[in-house]
Amino acid sequence: MPDEQPDWAAAREQMLLDPTVTMLNTGSFGPLPRPVFDRVTAIRLKLAAGPTDFYVRQAPPLLWEARERTAAFLGTTPQRFVFTTNVSAAINLVASGLRLNAPGEILMSDHEYGCMVWCWERAGQRQGLGVRQFKLPTMATDPGEIVAAARKAITPRTRVLFFSHVLSPTGLILPAKELCALARTHGIISVVDGAHAPAMLPLDVSDVGADFYTGNLHKWLLAPSGAGFVVIGPGNEDRLQPLHVSWGYHADKYPIGEVARSTGPDARDVYGSTPRTRFLEFEGTRDFCPWLAVPAAIDFQAALGWAAVRARIADLAAYTRKVIGDTGLSLATPAARGMSGAMTAFNLPAGVSAPKLRKALWDRRIEVPVIERSDRLMVRVSHHFYTTEAEIDVLAKELPACLREAGGAA
Ligand SMILES: Cc1ncc(COP(=O)(O)O)c(C=O)c1O
Repeated sequence: MPDEQPDWAAAREQMLLDPTVTMLNTGSFGPLPRPVFDRVTAIRLKLAAGPTDFYVRQAPPLLWEARERTAAFLGTTPQRFVFTTNVSAAINLVASGLRLNAPGEILMSDHEYGCMVWCWERAGQRQGLGVRQFKLPTMATDPGEIVAAARKAITPRTRVLFFSHVLSPTGLILPAKELCALARTHGIISVVDGAHAPAMLPLDVSDVGADFYTGNLHKWLLAPSGAGFVVIGPGNEDRLQPLHVSWGYHADKYPIGEVARSTGPDARDVYGSTPRTRFLEFEGTRDFCPWLAVPAAIDFQAALGWAAVRARIADLAAYTRKVIGDTGLSLATPAARGMSGAMTAFNLPAGVSAPKLRKALWDRRIEVPVIERSDRLMVRVSHHFYTTEAEIDVLAKELPACLREAGGAA
């Protein structure tokens, strides 16, 4: 870690952000730093100029390097690391690929990302299992309250425990390691949606101990869109079937089958994979340049210093709580240490129309999501290292007028 504080203004200059927009939504999509954009563009140029040479000769060592670097960054090994297009693809792979014992149920919190719930709904329908949600204490002051809520919800019918490491609606951080340990003691498969965790948290996937840990690299790590992953936990190596059947399906029948047979399923192959990761990962010809640019994204924030980035995020979280709180809105994300990171949500007053509020905000070029839940509306502020206090001030200044335009009093 560099001794000196990074020059945050200079770091912001490196971000390819539209200067006319107040950008407070890294939580949905991360913007690109210039070096990451340059790297993925350089790789795409090679693909464009000579696709055969690229796919057959140039990409395999780059893919292996990306696998090794990303796996090490996340605290796992290349043998357990499967690239996907995004976390949706990763959870689809797990939910569709797992064979579960029916009858039974898939248990999850009531704050999971909408279409991930649907993913489990379909998997359950296909295999004769139900989906049940337990109420999450979203303003918990201690992680133990969350573990207790999950423990209470587990029954002998529970086959899978699914939860987000960092909640999408509010940014609450769940005690992932403790929840996975709880699942394990009950013989339940744990599946973690780590959409927001990589780079927001000092993540060590092996320490979390999930059976399947999935995540996104395009949000807080600032890798190009198109980079996500699944990490296969110990004991689960042969549990998944691929979503796409392609050349990885029968490693032993393909011409290099002899190699796979002689070196085993976890040895590096000629494609930059292992027979086991390729079985799940290879989906035919496609653009996987975003995967190959992930090392550049790791290098970019590592050069700023991870501890410095996290300290900056914590300072911005405190600033957001104060400045937006001063407008009269109540917090929807606990301020307790370890329970929130780079997203802070606020409850909106009754009577606000979500579409009108979105329009009012965007009319002012403010990019911040309005989150609709069955019981309330929230605004969720993302603050990464490049976020400026001035951007948070803009939101605080404009919110009262936006809320009035949307039908609610500030
Ligand atoms: C918790 C959570 N899960 C899943 C997703 C889906 O991410 P993607 O569209 O990158 O697959 C998101 C997106 O914001 C999310 O917040």
